[in-house]
Amino acid sequence: MSDSSASVMEPPAPRAGGALGRVILEVKDLAVSFGGIKAVNGLSFSVHEGEIVSVIGPNGAGKTSAFNCISGFYRPNQGAVVFDGEPITRNKPSRITQLGMARTFQNVRLFKEMTVLDNVKTGMHTRLGQNVFDAMLHTPRYRRSEAQCTEDARGWLDFVGFRADDELLVTQLPYGEQRRVEIARALATQPKLLLLDEPAAGLNHNEKQELMALIRKIRDLGVGIVLIEHDMGLVMQISERIVVLNYGKEIADGTPEQVKNDPAVIAAYLGEEEEE
Ligand SMILES: Nc1ncnc2c1ncn2[C@@H]1O[C@H](COP(=O)(O)OP(=O)(O)OP(=O)(O)O)[C@@H](O)[C@H]1O
Ligand SMILES: [Mg+2]
Repeated sequence: MSDSSASVMEPPAPRAGGALGRVILEVKDLAVSFGGIKAVNGLSFSVHEGEIVSVIGPNGAGKTSAFNCISGFYRPNQGAVVFDGEPITRNKPSRITQLGMARTFQNVRLFKEMTVLDNVKTGMHTRLGQNVFDAMLHTPRYRRSEAQCTEDARGWLDFVGFRADDELLVTQLPYGEQRRVEIARALATQPKLLLLDEPAAGLNHNEKQELMALIRKIRDLGVGIVLIEHDMGLVMQISERIVVLNYGKEIADGTPEQVKNDPAVIAAYLGEEEEE
């Protein structure tokens, strides 16, 4: 039994010739309510391996709630989520992570008391079924695979373009670097699907350009990507498909070109932007 062999960084095989891989995520008629508010109200879409799908919509449209239902943080009261052929509706987040779905959060969520390196390592321990406390307490089980984990974690930090000292506490990093660490931690779980909730929020122009290159690089590993984003320039450039939500309802699902010219989208989404 060797923990270390399983922890070697093995990105998924690159997809062939730009063709989409198999369907990795199917969301069917998903709904969740809070009191009288239907935060998500009948959302259906699918994502293939190696595909970038964006979810857009005005503030409060239900984008984050949809992510929370898909990744197990909320229990939807209607609909189904099928991941890599397996029904996962209402499964726990830890189980869903182990099956190969990773996410980042609208507000960066890292272990503030831990170093950059240890934060990324928690991603590996999640995948290996190890306990986060093993990492924090440095138990013998943890130490056995630590050298390999360190190497792999540094590999993922390089992959995301992290430039600071990985022995720093994450709270000592500039915001843009914290965002990278969160993505590195998600990748360390070796996901087949990555959900990114507003990864460009708070980033400057250069950082956004780098983020776009990074998202494409992750896609090229064969990972399916679902992106929530308000920056329309970024969304239109990077997305293969866009799903539009308004008041929890899906009002469009199409290519950037189709969505941009959809009267319902212009009325609901772009109309609101102009009023702001
Ligand atoms: N845990 C919760 N408890 C109560 N209401 C919630 C909860 N989560 C979301 N909501 C409500 O559901 C609706 C959708 O919120 P959600 O955060 O999903 O929107 P969003 O599209 O991500 O918005 P933003 O672009 O501002 O992040 C809002 O009315 C919100 O107040
Ligand atoms: Mg949100």
